[in-house]
Amino acid sequence: MENGLADRFALIRFWEDERRRPLGDTHWPGVRALSLCIETRVDDSLLARFPDLEIISTFGAGYDHIDLGATSRCGLVVTNTPGLLDEDVADLALGLMIATVRQIPQAERFLRSGQWRQAQYPLTPTLRGRKVGIAGLGRIGSAIARRLAPFVDEVSYCGRSRQQAVPYPFFSTIRALAQWSDVLVCALPGGSSTSRMVDAAVLKALGPDGIFINVGRGSVVDQPALISALKTGEILAAGLDVYEEERAVPADLLDCERAVLLPHVGSSTHRARQAMGDLLVRNLSNWFTHGAALTPVTT
Ligand code: 8YV
Repeated sequence: MENGLADRFALIRFWEDERRRPLGDTHWPGVRALSLCIETRVDDSLLARFPDLEIISTFGAGYDHIDLGATSRCGLVVTNTPGLLDEDVADLALGLMIATVRQIPQAERFLRSGQWRQAQYPLTPTLRGRKVGIAGLGRIGSAIARRLAPFVDEVSYCGRSRQQAVPYPFFSTIRALAQWSDVLVCALPGGSSTSRMVDAAVLKALGPDGIFINVGRGSVVDQPALISALKTGEILAAGLDVYEEERAVPADLLDCERAVLLPHVGSSTHRARQAMGDLLVRNLSNWFTHGAALTPVTT
């Protein structure tokens, strides 16, 4: 994500030295900007080590890894990179949904392991006739809804509030949406307001023919409840791009043949990542040149 940062700033590449403990325990006086991504939690203890910090620029749309109370107490500006990855994440959500329903990775494993020589791959469920509920109709959720039109007849959503300008029916709770849905696609942001929103009751409401897709945040799901629902057949299948603790996907989940698991690649395209990096750098440049960030996170 360097994107020309080194041309304009004196750069400390924390990731090169300290790998999974990117910022270590050291104090860093003189560091005025921190650029990071969702794997680095920003809280009081981290901020205490950067006494001269002015701005934190996160490489991504989500900022649930940043304690905005802590940054505001320190008078810091926080920027993110919204609006540049929605279409790519929505493409991935559709691909993941179809892959999960039609068991594309499982069928490929079947072929590669030589089993096709002996047998036909079993029949799979279909998207035909399925109703799709979208939890979180923000930029990404809306881009997913637009893509669904040629595939399914009925789309509904839930979210913080009903949106006037959208044609889809609204449910006021995720449980009611799950009850209605045959496929529940989650595009919710992380954070305390959505934490473990998809719990055992929601999965039960989705039902034994139900399919759960998550491209939002893993923290939105009670992951042990999801694993149990997959194992007992309480839901049919799941397609996941995000997890409770990234990158530690539990063995129990890896064991679930009915889960299609991706390593958080929703926005991982050259184009989206380049645009995100460019915006990150422009935010910093603008801050240090004009004292204003281009896309500050506001609470
Ligand atoms: C990326 C994301 O994985 O933008 C987000 O909020 O979750 C993803 O697009 C992330 O930005 C990379 O750090």
